[in-house]
Amino acid sequence: MNTFGTADIVVGTQYGDEGKARVVDDMAKDYDVIARFNGGANAGHTIEHNGLKVALNQVPSGIFYEDKILYVGSGCVINISKLVAEIERLEGIGIKLKGRFKVSSQAGVVQPHHMLIDAEIGGKVGTTKNGIGPAYADRSLRMWGDRLLNIRLGDLHGDADHFFDYMKKNLEFTKSAYGIEGEEVDFDQLAADFEKIRDYIEIDTLYLQKLAQQGKKILFEGAQSFMLDVNKGSVPYVTSSGTSAPAAYTGGDLSPNFHGKTIGVAKVIMSRVGHGPFISEFGRAESEEYCMTANEDGSPTYGRAMEEAYDIDALLASDDPFEMGKAVRILSGEYGTVSTRPRRIGAFDLPQLAYAVKTNGINGLVLTKCDLLNVYSRTEKGMIPLVVGYKLDGEDINFVPGSTRTYGKVEPVIEYREAFSEDVSGMRTEEELPQALKDLLKEVEEFVGCEVVGIGVGPDRDQYVKLK
Ligand code: GDP
Ligand code: IMO
Ligand code: MG
Repeated sequence: MNTFGTADIVVGTQYGDEGKARVVDDMAKDYDVIARFNGGANAGHTIEHNGLKVALNQVPSGIFYEDKILYVGSGCVINISKLVAEIERLEGIGIKLKGRFKVSSQAGVVQPHHMLIDAEIGGKVGTTKNGIGPAYADRSLRMWGDRLLNIRLGDLHGDADHFFDYMKKNLEFTKSAYGIEGEEVDFDQLAADFEKIRDYIEIDTLYLQKLAQQGKKILFEGAQSFMLDVNKGSVPYVTSSGTSAPAAYTGGDLSPNFHGKTIGVAKVIMSRVGHGPFISEFGRAESEEYCMTANEDGSPTYGRAMEEAYDIDALLASDDPFEMGKAVRILSGEYGTVSTRPRRIGAFDLPQLAYAVKTNGINGLVLTKCDLLNVYSRTEKGMIPLVVGYKLDGEDINFVPGSTRTYGKVEPVIEYREAFSEDVSGMRTEEELPQALKDLLKEVEEFVGCEVVGIGVGPDRDQYVKLK
């Protein structure tokens, strides 16, 4: 049995949307299987190649390679109707999934009452309203009396009527217990949608294990990111699954014997969607409130169209970090793939990255969005801000505190590094890069104790500079 180096992992190291999918898309050529192990429709993964831009939610980012198997593991929770829509959307652009897209029969089902509860209570965390938290909560809660809470795809596959009956009861119970009505749920439509994905369900629980034993190479694609991990992230402002590298071997249905390496993805201008601490955020609380303000229909109050009408040069020249941050967001197009919300923007935080690198056992880092760093040459300071330390109650600390309330009190130690104004988006080799960028990469490596193996210089697969 081949027991070494067959499976590698890509995880996000910050607050999500680091560009994991573009890294997976690039690496995928060297693997046989691309597998998801956590999360569900809350993920928004964008890949761009040959002028085609595709946003994925539940399907792994190996779609552009027709010969690759795409696997969704037991650690994921599936929104059936959204999956049907995603499959149809992909087929509409010529991507074939039949025979190569497989979803574990042990993956959970996001039920209508999960969506209802999340819509009701997810606001304080700022969830994506995909029913993710309630679905994982029911996975742990298992049953309520005789009523089954944790319904898995394999259950529907074996006896759809029986388990749809529980789903209806769960919805009725939720409505009366919480006193919420919600929209009418069309269970006939849901059952019809389930039939459309039936053939994709993999009932062999050893499916991936068998492929690995045959020598097939597996690439795990993390969803969400380390600081959103249900245990290690900024609890409770997190998602509800394990997002760190070890979770690949529980939610990904493969034994850890096959582990090779872990690649971490970080962006050099950070972002966060949703509430919770973000130490390096430009404008801290003011920015959080601004970005999270929503209209009655849930749409963001300060959306992309409104922001793009601002005077960008004036914002950039402001000595108020909140105003400067707005310009950075506009110029870097940081608006949620799923929610369209303006993403909160902040400086590159090295202590936070070091926490992620150490805890996940990251062997190589990919730093994305290096093409956008030149915006700092247009700011009032004209330099790149970098968080190089944390202060808690005036004392230096070199870790991320376990209590999120305490973490929220941490003050960043910010230093400024030389900026560059060159457009690096057309560069493909290390030699071409501006010296200021090379120096920054070296400093990151030394600070976090991990090699930078490549950088993103634009969203397209080819806009990548391999370093090691
Ligand atoms: P994921 O959730 O980690 O896969 O990331 P998302 O797809 O949600 O967000 C990343 C966004 O940045 C997408 O729009 C990507 O196309 C884009 N992107 C990724 N890498 C780069 C890069 O190096 N430069 C630029 N300008 N955009 C990038
Ligand atoms: P990808 O895979 C960024 C955030 C939400 C919210 C919190 C909980 O594209 O990086 P949830 O709906 O999961 O209960 O929301 O987590 N969040 C993400 N932020 N990227 C994501 O996924 C996210 N998935 C969830 O904004 O703060
Ligand atoms: Mg995303």
